[in-house]
Amino acid sequence: MVNQPHGGRLVCRELTGKKKEEAIRNAKSLPSMTVNSWVLSDIELIGTGGFSPLIGFMGQADYENVVAHTRLADGTIWSIPITLPATEEQTSLFNIGEQIALKGKDGIIYGTITLEEKYAYDKKKEALHIYGTTDAAHPGVKKVYEKEAVYLGGPITLLQRPDHSQFAAYYMDPSETRQMFADLGWKTIVGFQTRNPVHRAHEYIQKIALEAVDGLLLNPLVGETKSDDIPADVRMESYEVILKNYYVKDRVRLVIYPAAMRYAGPKEAILHAIVRKNYGCTHFIVGRDHAGVGDYYGTYDAQLLMAQYEEELGIQIFSFEHAFYCKVCENMASGKTCPHGKENHVHLSGTKVRDMLRNGKRPPKEFSRPEVADVLIKGMERKQ
Ligand code: ADX
Repeated sequence: MVNQPHGGRLVCRELTGKKKEEAIRNAKSLPSMTVNSWVLSDIELIGTGGFSPLIGFMGQADYENVVAHTRLADGTIWSIPITLPATEEQTSLFNIGEQIALKGKDGIIYGTITLEEKYAYDKKKEALHIYGTTDAAHPGVKKVYEKEAVYLGGPITLLQRPDHSQFAAYYMDPSETRQMFADLGWKTIVGFQTRNPVHRAHEYIQKIALEAVDGLLLNPLVGETKSDDIPADVRMESYEVILKNYYVKDRVRLVIYPAAMRYAGPKEAILHAIVRKNYGCTHFIVGRDHAGVGDYYGTYDAQLLMAQYEEELGIQIFSFEHAFYCKVCENMASGKTCPHGKENHVHLSGTKVRDMLRNGKRPPKEFSRPEVADVLIKGMERKQ
């Protein structure tokens, strides 16, 4: 049996057929505001149920509970605020109870919100509690500081999905992945979050996990990431080639996760697990410095925090130590399985790999599968 959705019910905030056409027509005459791609991805994930049990952007009680206690106001575990920021001028124009059209920068109306609340918030407090730092150099904190001053809360309706046509073959709703797992006969499914091109340590931990469950959901994040991360299309191509050459077809499914990356480390690990639970996963992988950036989090902080919530969340966490290739073992390993010194271990940081690729240099085969290295080098040439 695939896992229960978080909060017990898979949310759907999307209209279909005639109702949708009518809502789109009506939305054109509503007051409107323009939102960025981060907010659009949140609308999409609320609408399709990826963020179940959320039905809209958080009101003040949910927001403050999440910031202070990692729970919604009703006690359900939730770790990252999902909010709709607006300027004070915008806010003064909108009245409680009215519907507002949410437009993308392209002028398309992606959804509507029924405004229930407007509230000010404390950016430093949000930064400290969610990201563990108030340092504006942290990419997630920087986003918080750049946000408008007021949050608007209320239920949303998804009217138009952001364009994912470039990944159409890998786009599925949580209801669809759940059905797919049932059709495949998978009872236990491990979810894998990633925002990087696949490397051997990823492959190693995915395959160890797969030894213990029926199937693997590779779920790369393709929403907004920081500018020096490898672009999503190149990462997806790296997955296509590695799946073709090194994975058992009937044991893996590749599906995009359209969210924005927060880089919130431990708190984001909880969100990542919740969403994968909504996709139907029974297990979730948390490795070294999950969703981390720079030196803001300890290597295993995300695992430690997850351990506090795992049982109540109802998704089993596979925790992995830092994995590497050992030249003496001639194998992938970790500190748990390899007795040899660090000088024998091949591990490259993301920054190092990006530098190598930019200079047209191929990461060693102990780090990247050759097919993946080819994709990355070509991808970097295209982007320069
Ligand atoms: S993340 O920001 O999405 O977490 P990344 O794509 O690098 O970044 O990692 C995906 C998953 O693999 C995370 O759970 C991370 O902890 C894990 N991971 C990445 N590299 C290693 C490694 N060398 N050893 C163990 N786990 C790793």
